[in-house]
Amino acid sequence: ATTREYTWVIADHDLNPDGVYRPMILINGTFPGPLIECNEGDEIVVHVHNQGINATSIHWHGLYQNSSNWMDGTVGVTQCPIPPGYSFTYRFNVSGQTGTYWYHSHMSMQASDGLVGPLIIHAKGSDAKKAIQKLPYAQDRIVMLSDHYYDLSSSLLVHYLSPGSENAEPVPPSALINGRNIRNCSALPTRTCTTTARTNALFALSSTTNTRLRILNVAAFAEFSLQIDEHAFDVTEVDGTDVHPQSIHRLNISPAQRYSIVVTPPAAPKNKGAYWMRARMLTHCFAYEEPELLEEVWGLLSYTTTTTTTTPQTTDWPQPIELECRDLNTSSLTPLRVLPAPPPTLYLNLRTSFQSRDWRLSRGYINEHSLRLNATRPVLYDFQLTTDPLVYGIPSPEEGNGEYTVVSILIQNFDDGAHPFHLHGYKFWVMDEGAGYPPSSASPSPSTHPSPPYAPEPSLANPNPLRRDTVTIPAYSWTRIQFVADNPGAWAFHCHVGWHAEAGLGMVFLVGGRDEVRDEDEGWRAEGRRLCDGYKNMKG
Ligand code: C2O
Repeated sequence: ATTREYTWVIADHDLNPDGVYRPMILINGTFPGPLIECNEGDEIVVHVHNQGINATSIHWHGLYQNSSNWMDGTVGVTQCPIPPGYSFTYRFNVSGQTGTYWYHSHMSMQASDGLVGPLIIHAKGSDAKKAIQKLPYAQDRIVMLSDHYYDLSSSLLVHYLSPGSENAEPVPPSALINGRNIRNCSALPTRTCTTTARTNALFALSSTTNTRLRILNVAAFAEFSLQIDEHAFDVTEVDGTDVHPQSIHRLNISPAQRYSIVVTPPAAPKNKGAYWMRARMLTHCFAYEEPELLEEVWGLLSYTTTTTTTTPQTTDWPQPIELECRDLNTSSLTPLRVLPAPPPTLYLNLRTSFQSRDWRLSRGYINEHSLRLNATRPVLYDFQLTTDPLVYGIPSPEEGNGEYTVVSILIQNFDDGAHPFHLHGYKFWVMDEGAGYPPSSASPSPSTHPSPPYAPEPSLANPNPLRRDTVTIPAYSWTRIQFVADNPGAWAFHCHVGWHAEAGLGMVFLVGGRDEVRDEDEGWRAEGRRLCDGYKNMKG
């Protein structure tokens, strides 16, 4: 195993990713942030120096952080924010997982201000061979999709979270591939805009060997549909789970999800080997209009080394289809490694909704509760197993028993928007899903949480369900997921639409005993206190 060490300076910048200048928060002045690439088993060390004007944090999305929960980077859950002028070192081992991940700030919605980047874990040995043998590829590229706002998330949030906003999520006016797009500046007269030196994302691919494209949706809000002109491609990875290749033409991807697709070069290339990749935001899933909207962003796929100036023809683009606002249908995707879900021992029944209660403030609710985290007092520091509805304790196995709790969660979405839910520290099995109410045998009784057990539907038992870390529950639909609570720590479980998370649509699982997550000798508590004291001083 190798130690991979990075030094990151976080600072405020003005940048024009698509032509329009806006204030951003960047790592080492780059957007998207630097790639972290490692092998399974490596140690990652990231020295973060915060030279910005806001407090910050970095979360490693999808990483297990086994025995390093306090490195999860989740403000209000595992740490206080890193105040301006402070440094903090993240240090953790990457083990037991491979594939496509990412990192982002977990301080409010700073991810949408530029604090995002890719994190790739390469498999070693026979696992790697097995996956590659299914569909060989010779190169590997990152395709990072983001929706793009022209204002800092902090100012958009003030409006969104103010009384009477009726859950009107700000609509992103633009979208980017790998931090790039080209707007027509003359159509945006009120903006400071220049596209000089801006280009579309360019992917120069071999014309003789397959390429693996790692698609990441790092958006705050938008679900994307991705196509490549005149190409079918094969899905081979879902949130770090290698799957049997499945050929598709169009990839739907929700915020925080990742897929790998393998692209085969066309036998007889057209257009001098240049093709558009098109990522379209599913804007009909937005409830509101945005006058400056550019819903589609293009990248250029080129099978020769010299066609960077060749513009593909665009006439063969089919009319956009009104797609459902939901995940790619993953029910036919089968993990390479067979891992059946064990029978649940704990059933939770969660109902999500948006409600306007006090002062007509619209908040996200799980059952009857809205999450309000305290940035100066992370729940990890008060680690105490309770049955608090939103800070929910799951004990470690009893002595001699040795069986971990197997948690089954039924989430019913009573809202008119989709919610991509993400669980920190784990992958979960996606057991089953459907529209409307769950089948009666799977339906919960009362509205309280935790609910009495509901009987799972045995006929739906899949011997090898998909495992992932982010799943979308479409509007007025339900999904049942399952995980083995074998990773001690305080783990957030929340909707990954940034607006919804900030409105309280989430909860925290406390897994294991206090002793398992607190190790005074490691000195992490002192480090944590240092940040908390600094942050309190800054606030006070
Ligand atoms: Cu991408 Cu709470 O995380």
